[in-house]
Amino acid sequence: YKLNKVFFLYLYKMKAQKQTQLIVALDTNSIEGALSIADRIGNKVDWFKVGKQLFCSHGPIAVKRLKSMGKKVFLDLKFHDIPNTVSQAVCAAAETGADMINVHASGGSEMMKVAKDALKKKNPDVLLIAVTVLTSMDDESLRLVLDRNDNYTSAQHVSHLAKLAKTVGLDGVVASAHEIEIIRNACGSNFKLVIPGIRPSDSSINDQKRIMTPAEAALRGADFIVVGRPITQSADPASVADSILREIN
Ligand code: C5P
Repeated sequence: YKLNKVFFLYLYKMKAQKQTQLIVALDTNSIEGALSIADRIGNKVDWFKVGKQLFCSHGPIAVKRLKSMGKKVFLDLKFHDIPNTVSQAVCAAAETGADMINVHASGGSEMMKVAKDALKKKNPDVLLIAVTVLTSMDDESLRLVLDRNDNYTSAQHVSHLAKLAKTVGLDGVVASAHEIEIIRNACGSNFKLVIPGIRPSDSSINDQKRIMTPAEAALRGADFIVVGRPITQSADPASVADSILREIN
């Protein structure tokens, strides 16, 4: 009995202390610039994010070149369209070699479900993640979009969208670090939480509103943190990445 108890406590501890991974957002027009940042950062970081800016400038080759460097790629194109268009788009996105793809949860349950089902048939290992409320929005800007005059908060809306995504079988959500606890409680520990809006305490906030430091986000149980400008606009991206990794470890 005692041995069992020790074993289960150990398992619980391991579960609670799951490792947070860093995704570096390569938001640039220059493929050589993006690859050079990935190269300078080296083996310390496995995951890189190709977003709209890099993808619209260079297309699938950006993903393919990162894959040929042995990297994992989050292709952040945030699809939001009718179900058929989105399901075809996520399958095409998976063909680039991306390991993680996303859609907007506000596209609705049917859109998310059809996309996940299509991906399951063709590329079952690719993670499909739903964007909830952008981290650049605060409660007031959300209420303006939703045309609400009450006290509805972005945390409430994030939780609602996360539950929708979980119900139709998505692998996780993108949300701000402030909503980690509420989503964990609603969606369980296997649901992946991808957290942008991360700022080391000495860096500039830029256009982000619901921000948190890497250490706080990791302590709250983020599976992935996404960091862009604090790394990519630094004179020494490798050392900023290093210090973020030290914080989350
Ligand atoms: O430069 P910064 O660290 O603010 O970059 C954050 C990245 O995460 C950007 O590429 C942005 O598109 C993305 N993102 C976000 N908020 C979301 C979803 C994605 O900031 N809700």
